[in-house]
Amino acid sequence: MTDEELIGLARSAAAKAYAPYSRFLVGCAIESVDGVVVTGANMENACYRLGLCAEQSALTAAQHAFGLDKVARIAVAGGNGDMVCTPCGGCRQAILEAAQLSGRDLEILCAGGQGSAIERHAISTLIPHGFGPANLG
Ligand code: THU
Repeated sequence: MTDEELIGLARSAAAKAYAPYSRFLVGCAIESVDGVVVTGANMENACYRLGLCAEQSALTAAQHAFGLDKVARIAVAGGNGDMVCTPCGGCRQAILEAAQLSGRDLEILCAGGQGSAIERHAISTLIPHGFGPANLG
């Protein structure tokens, strides 16, 4: 699957977000080492702090579909324009879990809700010196 196709799936997922409070729709598509793709989107709540980010929603689907240790590539897309959406701090931590389990420095493709701008980041640059399962032995 091309980068553009994976981002396209993240954008399709964003269209199914439940984000009535922020109106900031985010989608995430995660591809496994075997080419299986799962998606997720942000889901907000009237109790604001209970909102769930797209990345964590998709990581949950990934665990159920093929296991976090088989995560190969992640695309995140969202927002109201062409400004690229990068994972929040909490989502970086959640992606680090999959990265350490898989033994891969996972690549994250980041895009806006529209537009052709793409940023590529390795999880090691998004969360340097992170604390993960490796620390727990
Ligand atoms: N959001 C995500 O889903 N992922 C991110 O990495 C950044 C933020 C969501 C959370 C909230 O529902 C909305 O975007 C605005 O912060």
